[in-house]
Amino acid sequence: MRAITATALLLVSLTGHAETPQQIRQTYVAEAVSQQAGFTPSAKRGEILFRQRFAINDKMPGCVSCHTDSPVNAGQHAITGKNIRPLAVAANAERFSDPAKVEKWFGRNCKEVVGRACTAAEKADFVTYMSEVR
Ligand code: HEC
Repeated sequence: MRAITATALLLVSLTGHAETPQQIRQTYVAEAVSQQAGFTPSAKRGEILFRQRFAINDKMPGCVSCHTDSPVNAGQHAITGKNIRPLAVAANAERFSDPAKVEKWFGRNCKEVVGRACTAAEKADFVTYMSEVR
């Protein structure tokens, strides 16, 4: 089941077509449910992940290090200083519309900040929070 959803996500990515945040969230929810029966996404848990401080990287202890403590605000890369547009869908309609981009940045940022890949459940929660926050 896990392999099937991963493959489905990859195929979607390869075609590069646009999706809605709801579709992207649904892909992660399906994967999370296959690992943990009865999983339902939670914006609250997504917010906790967003605000959490990890002990892995001094320069970027949390998502807030670059994305600021409000997802509707523009951020700034903690190291390069490059501007980053808001993560919240309400403030940036391009967010969570390209599955390949979403996977790429979850991959990079979770590894650097959390010190491991984020789980499908964490991604589902995070996308839920970013879709709802205003
Ligand atoms: C070192 C700076 C930095 C940190 C820390 C950081 N990010 Fe990001 N993030 C970026 C940059 C740069 C981009 C890509 C540029 C953009 O999309 O505006 C990005 C984009 C994303 C995207 C892509 C969303 C989309 O659809 O466009 C996701 C998802 C994301 N980050 C999640 C996270 C999570 C989760 C954390 C904390 C575990 C985190 N980020 C921490 C810099 C950071």
